[in-house]
Amino acid sequence: MIDRATVTAVLDTVIDPKSGKGLVQAGLVQGLVVENGRAGFVVEVPSADTALYAPVRDQAEAALKAIEGMERVSVILTAETVVKPQRRTASLSPQAVDQNRPKAPVPTDRPAHVKRVLAVASGKGGVGKSTVSVNLAVALAKRGLSVGILDADVYGPSMPTMLGISGKPAYEDGQMVPHEAHGLKAMSVGLLTAGNDAMVWRGPMASQAITQMLTQTRWGTAEKPLDVLVVDLPPGTGDVQLTLIQKTPLDGAVIVSTPQEVALADARRAHTLFEKVGVPTLGLIENMSGDVFGRGGAEAEAARLGVAYLGDLPLSASVREGGDAGVPVTVAVPFGEAAERFDAVAAAMIEALSL
Ligand SMILES: Nc1ncnc2c1ncn2[C@@H]1O[C@H](COP(=O)(O)OP(=O)(O)O)[C@@H](O)[C@H]1O
Ligand SMILES: [Mg+2]
Repeated sequence: MIDRATVTAVLDTVIDPKSGKGLVQAGLVQGLVVENGRAGFVVEVPSADTALYAPVRDQAEAALKAIEGMERVSVILTAETVVKPQRRTASLSPQAVDQNRPKAPVPTDRPAHVKRVLAVASGKGGVGKSTVSVNLAVALAKRGLSVGILDADVYGPSMPTMLGISGKPAYEDGQMVPHEAHGLKAMSVGLLTAGNDAMVWRGPMASQAITQMLTQTRWGTAEKPLDVLVVDLPPGTGDVQLTLIQKTPLDGAVIVSTPQEVALADARRAHTLFEKVGVPTLGLIENMSGDVFGRGGAEAEAARLGVAYLGDLPLSASVREGGDAGVPVTVAVPFGEAAERFDAVAAAMIEALSL
């Protein structure tokens, strides 16, 4: 068993280039998780320092991996999202002229140049939440919108596979550059760690990584803002999910469920969770509808909850193959039945979000 003390001692052998102290001593180690031969933590630095600290992250990873019995390590480097009040300098710069204007409160978690944030959620895993996220994003892009997709599923990030993307994102001017795939801007928690290990993603680490991907990714620019960012949330209705949806500025949520009673009960809980934090549920989608799981359960549930029913997506080989091959079915079979269903959902979202 590797204990916390061993891990912190090793981390203190890695030197913070700014203070000259060990990483723990320097207060740079946040959200440390140590369990079953796994360790992970977050290093948060000012965005101007991300290049300086990239080698430090690598050193920390290497040092942890060298501990006997260590199986998995993930060290995440994040740029600070909190905007610190700037000390004013007496000058007649254009900013100085502006300083007398009342300032709007600084939004900390709202991503810049993103018009709408749409969550795709499910009460349990394996119901097709990621499949729906990706294909809905493609369908929105096909309707001419500029669309991003954020894979926030810390338990099982699937965008790298579903979109065929890989490699850590590049940093430019302290911002992460999203991957581009099938006309979408894409980021995934799965791209932030080499090990891609879901086990160490807990509490503060999960929250921090997602906040970082949300606010530190160059989703859009002032000239070309992103119309909508689709967020593939982790499944479930526990504390992790609650914290995430409280911290994430969501304009609406779509809930995915299979027709089975168990899944529907979970969908109900997901809806309750969104209600609690004041995020409107824009609709319920029935996935894997058909002979195996039955049909129509989600429509009845939507009626019970008083939310829109967005239609069903039948169980189909082409949907699954699209996901496995990194080419979503809406791209691979652009005029097929699935593409048609997703186009209808996209149209409903455009209306609901006033896009
Ligand atoms: N309508 C569908 N027909 C066939 N296979 C599907 C369908 N929806 C999802 N799948 C497959 O089911 C598995 C789980 O789907 P996924 O989207 O990863 O679920 P989640 O994100 O909810 O865990 C994947 O292999 C996916 O390709
Ligand atoms: Mg998934």
